Amino acid sequence: MNKKIAVLPGDGIGPEIVAQAVKVLDRIASVYGHKFEYTYVDIGGCSIDKFGIPITEEGIELCKNSDSVLLGAVGGPKWDACPPNIRPEKALLAVRKELNLFANLRPIKLFPQLASASPLKKEIVGEGIDLLIVRELTGGVYFGNRQTEEINGELVATDIMPYSEHEIERIGRVAFETALKRRKKLASVDKANVLDTSRLWRNVMHSLSKEYSEVSYSDILVDNTAMQLIKNPTQFDVLVTENMFGDILSDEASMLTGSIGMMPSASLSSGTLGMYEPIHGSAPDIAGMNIANPLGTVLSAAMMLRYSFHMTTEADLVEQAVEKVLDEGYRTGDILQEGTVKVSCSEMGDLVVSHIGMS
Ligand code: IPM
Ligand code: MG
Repeated sequence: MNKKIAVLPGDGIGPEIVAQAVKVLDRIASVYGHKFEYTYVDIGGCSIDKFGIPITEEGIELCKNSDSVLLGAVGGPKWDACPPNIRPEKALLAVRKELNLFANLRPIKLFPQLASASPLKKEIVGEGIDLLIVRELTGGVYFGNRQTEEINGELVATDIMPYSEHEIERIGRVAFETALKRRKKLASVDKANVLDTSRLWRNVMHSLSKEYSEVSYSDILVDNTAMQLIKNPTQFDVLVTENMFGDILSDEASMLTGSIGMMPSASLSSGTLGMYEPIHGSAPDIAGMNIANPLGTVLSAAMMLRYSFHMTTEADLVEQAVEKVLDEGYRTGDILQEGTVKVSCSEMGDLVVSHIGMS
């Protein structure tokens, strides 16, 4: 197969980690006879430095005309003082919206090899954590109107959080379909005791649940979810929630594994176009030092193979290669434990590559 991939390394450690994922994709291509054609696009702070804006129109067009997008990370203290409209994060939101990437899948998996990295007690982690957060990504307060105005001599800021039925229904369907392929358990997270958007959310989810009788469905309030994730995380299989709740809960959930550097994500549209990125940030403090953990990005590339290209065997192979490297005891600094071997970002990339096909 021939695939066009837009590569957006971004800022901080972005370029280093993305380079490792590209190495892995290249190996997959050569072993399986695929052709991956990469086009690099500036995004975030590096684009602000070059063009004065966090992503250009041409950059967005390039992403739209690709088969998928691979992203590193954006942002850093250098651009913190930028006005809201040209902040690095703005580019991320623009790409999500322009490519209609409404479904964000964030798998939270505790690798058995890294079990002791979890800050939770062994009896809470149990047999391991394996949950999936399905986050709505193009609606809600992230994209509603906002303004700051002066009223009665003081500034008043307002952010609107709109949700329409069709937006809720389409993310609900993704969640139910995903649950069907897993342990068939779905919890919908809302704040229906306070918010109208949540009451609508809950009604739509209830109607959908009638179509998916095989899935065991429940509602859970977002504050209780935050607590249950720490108290009893293994009760969850798939969680579905609106944009901002999903942002917050996915950071919390990723910490259950103690290794945010390992967590991938996929942002999907209704077609096969998707954007794939690790869920961690740009880590400016270690940028350029070749010590970052590239595995979250490598596993994001595996999700790309699986969801955008339907290359199941290839995706499985990348995930197995990551497991083998962990089994052999190789670790980047963030997941280093006694008795394991410390490797650099690029060495980690090479190790994964060495487990894919023949060298
Ligand atoms: C995430 C990030 C982004 C978000 C930021 C960088 C805008 O935190 O992908 O979780 O809030 O969606
Ligand atoms: Mg976040």
